[in-house]
Amino acid sequence: MSKVADERSNAAGSLAGERRAGISGSRFAASMAYFERAAKVIPGGIYGSKSPGFLVPGHFPYYLSRAQGSRIYDVDGNEFIDYLCGYGSQIVGYGNPAVDGPALEQARKGDLLNQPHPAMVELAERLVGLVDGMDWAVFVKNGTDATTLATSIARADTGKQIIVAAEGAYHGAANWCSTNVFPVFTQAEQRDVRFFPYNDVQALEALFAEHRGRIACIILTPYHHPTYKPQQMPTPEFIAAVERLCRAEGAYFIVDDIRANFRLDMHGSHRFFGAHPDLVTMGKALANGYPISVLLGRDSLRKTASSFFITGTYWMSAVPMIAALATLDEMERLGGAARLAALGGMLKEGLESLGREAGFCARVSGPLAIPYLTFDEDTDLYLNQRFCAAMADRGVFLHPHHNWFISLAHTEEDIARTLDAAREAFRELRQQARGADSSGG
Ligand SMILES: Cc1ncc(COP(=O)(O)O)c(C=O)c1O
Repeated sequence: MSKVADERSNAAGSLAGERRAGISGSRFAASMAYFERAAKVIPGGIYGSKSPGFLVPGHFPYYLSRAQGSRIYDVDGNEFIDYLCGYGSQIVGYGNPAVDGPALEQARKGDLLNQPHPAMVELAERLVGLVDGMDWAVFVKNGTDATTLATSIARADTGKQIIVAAEGAYHGAANWCSTNVFPVFTQAEQRDVRFFPYNDVQALEALFAEHRGRIACIILTPYHHPTYKPQQMPTPEFIAAVERLCRAEGAYFIVDDIRANFRLDMHGSHRFFGAHPDLVTMGKALANGYPISVLLGRDSLRKTASSFFITGTYWMSAVPMIAALATLDEMERLGGAARLAALGGMLKEGLESLGREAGFCARVSGPLAIPYLTFDEDTDLYLNQRFCAAMADRGVFLHPHHNWFISLAHTEEDIARTLDAAREAFRELRQQARGADSSGG
């Protein structure tokens, strides 16, 4: 059984347990009622594994009804300081009027028209001027559309089949890259995808040597954010090796910047790490949650891109493009990546020292604006789950298995409140550990 299926069946099992324990009468009564109704009409109740409540039932809501700034509100009216930010899509805060104002105005005038709105031209010009080394842009809806298009264009241009990717990397939910697919898809659609351990120059060299003349591209996230594990930054030697091997092979280097997007650098995360990709994918925070992603590329791929069949019914809708232009302005106005890193630095420092005080080796990995906490002593993420559950009990929404995000709507006061909650949560964990020790558990 896949991990997702596992999580869902655990959730279903826990649901019965919770009903027995009377949790449906708790602070999540309305959430639980919706989940029971959903289970009858939506396979799994909520698709994907999009709820930390599947991992630690009873501590997280299943359904949210609204959000504002850095806060989310569930269907029972509970408020949380949110560090998931719509899986990274919120960068200037939920309901930011500087974005929603122009977006809603365009919605009233017309969103999905037969031909593109001029905002498409303006947004392409803006991104080409902003993102390091990129000469053209095409807009799609989901990140998965962008990564699929990037690898397809690289294959078409080179006439070669093989895509190289890092083990444990996430590039979307399509069958060519999804880590949760059934073997029947893996065999057919991942037949020409090869994986190597991130940052391992020797393994990468060996892979390129083994498949010489057959590699179309390598796709990498700007830093490694495998689920369930500490995040890893690239070494300069690794980036240099990727670029050297691509040049020698005539393969394209794709940076999948969908998750990090502008959180590290307004010119793209590749500028932050000193990399020089041929294609860059972005999405998520691009329009502060309005549905749009983009593939950017170098001149060398313009001809192939222009002969490509790039289309989708909703891909030209105007509202997300207007929202993207407004989001870029707002990010700059609110202090951009430097402000995010400052807030993330406060959070990292605070969490690590509070963890130490309580006797844990808690470590925050990854970029400051996109942190993820793990415990060195935690072999199966159980401590992570207990910690995030204790934080949710105190009104702070942290995902136990997925990295977190800071937004420009977070404030120093939010971080201070988060650290107050963390102090109590670490203490609670320590008491639980003592209790388990004294009962011989
Ligand atoms: C690095 C990366 N690539 C691609 C995707 C897929 O994006 P989407 O969910 O919009 O299809 C994601 C989504 O989490 C991502 O983090």
